[in-house]
Amino acid sequence: MFIRNAWYVAAWADEVSDTPLARRILNEPVVLFRDRAGKAAALLDMCCHRGAPLSIGKVTDLGIECGYHGLTFDGSGACVRIPGQDRIPERARVRRFPLMEQDGFLWIWMGETDRADPSAIVRYPWHNDTAHWPHKHTMYHIQAAAMLMVDNLMDLTHLGYVHGSTIGGNPMTHVEARMDTVRTPNGLKFDRWMLNSLPPPTYVRACGFEGRIDRLQRFEFIAPGSILQLSAADEAGTYADGLPETSKLQFRLYHGLTPETETSCFYFWSTANGFRPNDPAATEQLFNEIAGAFKEDLTVVEVQQARIAECGQDALVDIVTDAARLHMRRTVDRLLADDRPALAAE
Ligand code: FES
Ligand SMILES: [Fe+2]
Repeated sequence: MFIRNAWYVAAWADEVSDTPLARRILNEPVVLFRDRAGKAAALLDMCCHRGAPLSIGKVTDLGIECGYHGLTFDGSGACVRIPGQDRIPERARVRRFPLMEQDGFLWIWMGETDRADPSAIVRYPWHNDTAHWPHKHTMYHIQAAAMLMVDNLMDLTHLGYVHGSTIGGNPMTHVEARMDTVRTPNGLKFDRWMLNSLPPPTYVRACGFEGRIDRLQRFEFIAPGSILQLSAADEAGTYADGLPETSKLQFRLYHGLTPETETSCFYFWSTANGFRPNDPAATEQLFNEIAGAFKEDLTVVEVQQARIAECGQDALVDIVTDAARLHMRRTVDRLLADDRPALAAE
């Protein structure tokens, strides 16, 4: 079951062009495309004539032309052309999904159209601040439920075990991290302080740390699928009074999880270099290191998903370090319950 009345990342803005892109979102087939004016649109990927996927068609001056018999639809889903016929029947339209382009994302609303409020979209201004936070982004298509990836990001004690050679380092550093957690109306924020700890390999490669470091990971989960992350590190002793204005190493990550089906998802993520913004090689290296680490997450959650599908999860046990993850799950469960009247109305 999915929270439907919410904005999800449908695609990176630069993924969508005048070549139709088919993407299943919340288990519905969607086609994304840009019209000749460059405006992006999202329609149900099914022609209202004989049901062919619109994504096998092409974009013309009028909109998206079905690849079967040539009916054409504009970005609102209205049929604007029927070859060999002047009159266009009232019912000749396909479902449109509200779509907003902002901060480098295309955000889609799969719920009731009249409840789509663009002001509720998560903002990520750092994507626009390329002078201070140059970034790179990509998407991983994962054969696991989106919530398993959100779980992964809410319990970072996995870093020492899954990412030992990159962003992890010593496992006990993560298990013993001090967690400061704050609940928010639609999620939570937490700071993980690892003071006087050993730097993980990625940090050494990025900044050449030689001794112990103070390290912070600041996370904010915003339901249903956004996680905003700031990671910072500096020489041990620097964070005794909290996080200073700038640190020797600082980078931001955006994580966006969008369900494809109940057991697969799209993982949109970006890395922004705030420590050597004038050095494109540093931006590239950060991205490549994180890309490797996130492939390790992908591997774990896919085998986890397969095992859960096979054996169920009734016998799973929660431990102390699941606290943030459990709060996230409770928030999602509450929003799902709130969403239910909308589900029933469909
Ligand atoms: S199925 Fe699309 S035009 Fe016939
Ligand atoms: Fe991870």
